[in-house]
Amino acid sequence: MSGLYAASGMCDNCVPMKPAILVTKRIYPEAIEYLKQRAEIDYEESDDGISAPQLAGRINGKQGVVSQLTDKFTADVIGQLQGIRVIANVAVGYDNIDVPAATRHGILVTNTPDVLTDTTADFAFTLLLAAARRVVEGHQYVHSGQWTKWRIDLLVGQDIHHRTMGIFGMGRIGQAVARRARGFSMRILYHDAQPAPEPIAQELGLELVTAERLLRESDFISLHVPLLPETRHLIGARELRMMKPTAILVNTSRGPVVDEAALAEALKERVIAGAGIDVFEHEPQVEPLLLKVENVVLAPHIASASVDTRRKMSMMAAENAIAALEGQRPPNLLNPEAWERSEP
Ligand code: DGY
Repeated sequence: MSGLYAASGMCDNCVPMKPAILVTKRIYPEAIEYLKQRAEIDYEESDDGISAPQLAGRINGKQGVVSQLTDKFTADVIGQLQGIRVIANVAVGYDNIDVPAATRHGILVTNTPDVLTDTTADFAFTLLLAAARRVVEGHQYVHSGQWTKWRIDLLVGQDIHHRTMGIFGMGRIGQAVARRARGFSMRILYHDAQPAPEPIAQELGLELVTAERLLRESDFISLHVPLLPETRHLIGARELRMMKPTAILVNTSRGPVVDEAALAEALKERVIAGAGIDVFEHEPQVEPLLLKVENVVLAPHIASASVDTRRKMSMMAAENAIAALEGQRPPNLLNPEAWERSEP
């Protein structure tokens, strides 16, 4: 006996009972088809999802949840769950889930790494290029009919090639961004508590530096750290003042990694030249001053949003959930301790 069967006291000769899974908001249909063939699905087929006060109640009675980053699994919510074996998040980031609390309750937690690495790195570079070369301002200029003559210094921006790229966080996505920077003949500095493996550092020409050196020497800074207590407001007023006045900041990680009000003020006062921002402190709300300054390119948390990648993320979460409920170790398990504890 294993997984749901064991948990429900069923035997090998019995007709297997399908596990019950809550899908908290809309995902790609192929993932729903996959789940339906293997489980009873309670599908919240909306983009609003389930409100925080209703989440635990709607989950109870099920064995698994396919969740999204807007579902907040605090220790309090997790404490209210009964009989849940797995939370399968459709995201690589999992700061919406209190993983230690899940582990304490024997709940497996999974994410969707790798499939979004290149897509997210492409988008970090898109924001970098758009901010440096003032693409959005150019679009608005043409669109509004202001373009009446060619001018030698019309919307001049920053060169990218042969400049210095600074990357906070040299994990999968940081490395993919470095690879792109390499294609632009950039010098690459990085800061991370964990140095990059030597062959990768060699291949990409990475230089590990202090946070302060990275801030002072980089022309472009891209953030690829997870949201943790120690990375909250990693970039605030003090750090922005250390950056070059020509520098551009890109954030595709998590909103609270940057003090958004301090960034808006720094952009307004031209403490730095520009920014490309995909993630915000209180999504979908945006600091009002950021909506007023011209030297920023804003996007609605879409760095991983290619059709292929969002499909793959949906499928990956579905597969993680089913694996866990069929008694197998899910491929993208974040808390092996919870698995090991439940092993016979
Ligand atoms: C993630 O996966 O963590 C992104 O923020 C959404 O794709």
